Amino acid sequence: MEVIIQPDIKTASVLGAHIVARVVKRKPDAVLGLATGNTPLLLYSELIRFHKEENLDFEYITTFNLDEYVGLAPSHPASYNSFMWKNLFIDLNIPRHRIHIPDGLSPDIPAFCRQYEGAIKAAGGIDLQILGIGTDGHIGFNEPSSSLSSRTRIKTLTMQTRKDNAPFFEDEEHVPQHVITMGVGTIMESRICLMLAFGAKKADAVARMVEGPITASVPASILQMHQHAIVITDEEAASKLERADYYRWVYDNKPYWQKYSF
Ligand code: PGA
Repeated sequence: MEVIIQPDIKTASVLGAHIVARVVKRKPDAVLGLATGNTPLLLYSELIRFHKEENLDFEYITTFNLDEYVGLAPSHPASYNSFMWKNLFIDLNIPRHRIHIPDGLSPDIPAFCRQYEGAIKAAGGIDLQILGIGTDGHIGFNEPSSSLSSRTRIKTLTMQTRKDNAPFFEDEEHVPQHVITMGVGTIMESRICLMLAFGAKKADAVARMVEGPITASVPASILQMHQHAIVITDEEAASKLERADYYRWVYDNKPYWQKYSF
């Protein structure tokens, strides 16, 4: 696990965007796993800037989103479908038919989930998966106690997650109880996992993910077993890491050929 502590959200997001852009440049038909929420917003605006100002091309890119609320139409303003179009897709040139977001209105959710897994496989697997972390340690919407080898399926949100996501809805009561999410096992098959975590309210979850035991009680902790997991935080989210100075030392002293030079 590579932990990179950056001074602020902007610097961290720009670094994250460079890592995504490098994958896109090296493999123009790469498969990207995408996340929603507040965390990736600046990374996405930076990708849009690369596209508009530096001709970063997404024409052959395929995307799979991590999750969606059950019962929300794609057009619902709080759906992750709406979020992705508003904050990313509208400004990039990814062909619509290569964009995949779980269907929250699917009449047969288990069949849909099997089909989603099949589509990821048929696309060649995910090259880079962008991730955020929940205050309860979830990745995707894999809440605590999720099987660490789970696949795409329906999940019930914790009360904490519904509270955290209430600002996107009229009130907490309107946050759906169920979601479709890629499983922990699905996420772990991505070739690169790029986790971003910002703000003091993520500090506990980040410390448990990076330095705690691997446990289904903190699904993100399974990233300790991933061969290429990059965790980028701001100072606040890193504030409870015991080995923060070591991670800084490692990053500052990477061999030149391993550095992220852009
Ligand atoms: P956030 O959510 O980016 O809105 O903090 C992250 C998550 O719940 O995975």
